[in-house]
Amino acid sequence: MSVFAKYHVKAQEFDPPLDWEGLFGRSGPLVVELGFGSGEFLIQNAIEHPSTNFVGFETSLTCMVKLQKSLSRLGMNNVRAVLSDGKFGLKELFRDKTVDAVYVNFPCPWPKEAHRNRRLYSKTFVDTLASVLKDQGSFHLTTDVQWYLKDTASLLIESECFSVKMSEALNKNVVSTRYEKKWLSRGKVIYTLMAVKIKSASIKRITWEDKEMPHVHLKNVCEDKVKALRDKVFHEDQESVFVVKNVYSNVDEFLLRVISSDNGFQQCYFVLIQKRGKSYIVKIDPSTIPYRTPTVKKSVFKIAEVIQS
Ligand SMILES: C[S@@+](CC[C@H](N)C(=O)[O-])C[C@H]1O[C@@H](n2cnc3c(N)ncnc32)[C@H](O)[C@@H]1O
Repeated sequence: MSVFAKYHVKAQEFDPPLDWEGLFGRSGPLVVELGFGSGEFLIQNAIEHPSTNFVGFETSLTCMVKLQKSLSRLGMNNVRAVLSDGKFGLKELFRDKTVDAVYVNFPCPWPKEAHRNRRLYSKTFVDTLASVLKDQGSFHLTTDVQWYLKDTASLLIESECFSVKMSEALNKNVVSTRYEKKWLSRGKVIYTLMAVKIKSASIKRITWEDKEMPHVHLKNVCEDKVKALRDKVFHEDQESVFVVKNVYSNVDEFLLRVISSDNGFQQCYFVLIQKRGKSYIVKIDPSTIPYRTPTVKKSVFKIAEVIQS
C-alpha cells in the first residue's frame, strides 16, 4: 500500500453512508472542509485539534496529491480526503446528525448567471447542512465576495434551521489559506459567516438504496446498434441525463465512454459490453468506478435495452 493510500478515501468503492469512525480507526468529533485547495486550513486545524477527525473534499487532483504529500510528511493520522464534489459528498456520505462543523473557505463564486448551478450554496445544500450537522453543529463560510456571503446567509435564514452571525469586513487573516493571503495582498477585505444549527431538515439520498452495481446479461448484441450510440443523448427528465461520448471496440468487447448527470452532479465512466462464451454482459467497467446514482444505473440498463439484436 502506498504511504498516501490511507489519506485518500475512494468513496465510490464503499457502500454509502461511509463508516467514518472505521476509516479513522477511532471515534471523535467530525469536521468537514469543502474545497481545501492547498490544504493549509485542514492541516493547521488537524494539528491544533489532534482528537478531532477531519475530512476534506476537493475536485482538483493536483490539490489532492499536494495534500497527501503534506499529510504524509507530517505523519498525520486525523485527516482523510475525498476527490469529489463536496456538495454531493456531504449529502451522500454522511449520516444525519454526525458532523460537528463544516468549513468552506473562499469558494469559487461563479458570478455569471449561466454558472449559477455551480455555486456551492442552494436550498439543497442548506438542507444537507441542516441534516448532517449535529444539533448546535456549525457551518463556517469565509469569502472575499460580499454578495456570495449575503446570498448564502439569506438561504440559511429562510430555512429557519440556523442562527446566523455575519462579521463586518475584516482586513486581517482569518483562515490563513493561499487564497486569503492572495486577496489580502491585493487590498481586498474578508467576510465571514457562522451558522449554528437549531433545527433539523430531512433530505433524500440518491445512492443509499439498491447498492448493487448494475449489470445485464444479453443473448445477442447488434454491433451496428452499439456503434450508433456515439454522441447519443438519453434525456429522461430534467434531473437525469446521460450521453455516450465515444465507442471503442476490440475483439469481443466494446467500451463506451459515458457522461451522466443526476440533478447537475456529473460523472464520467465506461460501460463495458463484453462477450462471454455465447452471451454478453453489459456492466460498469471497473477502471472507472462511479457513484451508483439512479442515472448511472439507468445508463447500463438503457444501453443494454437498445443494443439487443
Ligand atoms: C478559490 S479555491 C480556494 C481554496 C482554499 N479553500 C483556499 O482558501 O485557499 C476553491 C477550491 O475549491 C475547489 N472546488 C471547486 N468546486 C468544488 C466542489 N464542488 N467540491 C469540492 N471542491 C471544489 C477548487 O478545486 C479549488 O481548489
